[in-house]
Amino acid sequence: MLVEKNVALQAFNTFHIVAKAHTLVRIRSEQDVLAVLADPELAPMPKFVLGGGSNIVLTGDVKPLVLKVEIAGRSLLRETPKAFILECGAGENWHDFVRWTVESGYPGLENMAMIPGTVGATPVQNIGAYGVELQDRFESLDAMDLATGQVFTLNAAQCAFGYRDSVFKHASGKSAGAINFGLKDRALILRVRFALPKAWRPVLGYADIEKKMVEQKCTNPTPKQLFDWVCAIRRAKLPDPAVVGNAGSFFKNPTVTAEQCADIIARDPKVVHYRMDDGSVKLAAGWLIDSCGWKGKSVGQAGVYEKQALVLVNRGAGKDGNGATGGEVMTLARAIQTSVYERFGIMLEPEPVVV
Ligand code: EPU
Repeated sequence: MLVEKNVALQAFNTFHIVAKAHTLVRIRSEQDVLAVLADPELAPMPKFVLGGGSNIVLTGDVKPLVLKVEIAGRSLLRETPKAFILECGAGENWHDFVRWTVESGYPGLENMAMIPGTVGATPVQNIGAYGVELQDRFESLDAMDLATGQVFTLNAAQCAFGYRDSVFKHASGKSAGAINFGLKDRALILRVRFALPKAWRPVLGYADIEKKMVEQKCTNPTPKQLFDWVCAIRRAKLPDPAVVGNAGSFFKNPTVTAEQCADIIARDPKVVHYRMDDGSVKLAAGWLIDSCGWKGKSVGQAGVYEKQALVLVNRGAGKDGNGATGGEVMTLARAIQTSVYERFGIMLEPEPVVV
């Protein structure tokens, strides 16, 4: 186990915010976690698990011990009559894994191509795009309890997936008199298993994908074609974190009641909304922010992306410390929340974890 001190985190977060980890350990196997837990100096420290750094805003140096997950490996674990079960190490890059599944003849993840981050981070926020969410393809995962070193397995129900949500985003505690179970900061995801149905069918319902079908005059794409379409759609709309620092969608799409939505429609008939099966309505946060005039605006070096108002970006190169600070990003985020609240009465909820 190599313990590194004062490690620059700029290359380890996709916002490219300048910050340091006081102490960082690279985790390449379960044994590395066990070594941390057996170390008299490291064991008692609070811990922060870092994957691809694609869903965090660093607002200062990180004092807890940073466990940087670099567990590798991907394989076809087994086949059932209906599905291929694949297993992937938590430290693998998600997009590389998706490409490998498509090229290896195990399709099913292509709608989620190009989402930044590591495989281990995908269940934490139940990533999703173009009509497919991680929970639709998830089989189980192995994680290690950071207090005891015990390895445990969770199935989908135990992960308590929701929209950009899971058991890993919640701390244990009491609310409304009930005891809630959460694993926030308590577990490190080691491996994730996926069940990819052998009877593959493309998921095409999403508007951007339908546009591609018309453009390409193709109604029955292969998995590779669909993968390429999703990559092209995302390249056109979303900034490449390798070039422009960002953390994907900064806010969740809010859910409102049918009455609240009717109210908003009465004032703003163009509001982009989707009716859900349970009678509630999901609103496009990007549209709400855009219609408050935020596209292209900035606070210091933090800005609202010109082509998609839901994405906040780092306008500074950042390499010499002149990029956006986490404070600037959060000031911009709060100003956006206030203006959307004043106009629509809706408090937007940030998606990334603020550290
Ligand atoms: N819109 C605007 N102005 C904007 C941005 C969006 O009017 O500045 C409108 C669009 O025209 C569209 C609607 O809002 O009618 C929704 O926009 P889009 O289709 O781009 O999707 P989204 O709701 O903004 C969600 C996910 C993305 C995912 C896409 C595709 C969330 C928070 N975001 O974005 O996920 O890629 O759908 O499925 O759910 C991420 O989580 O980081 C992410 C990128």
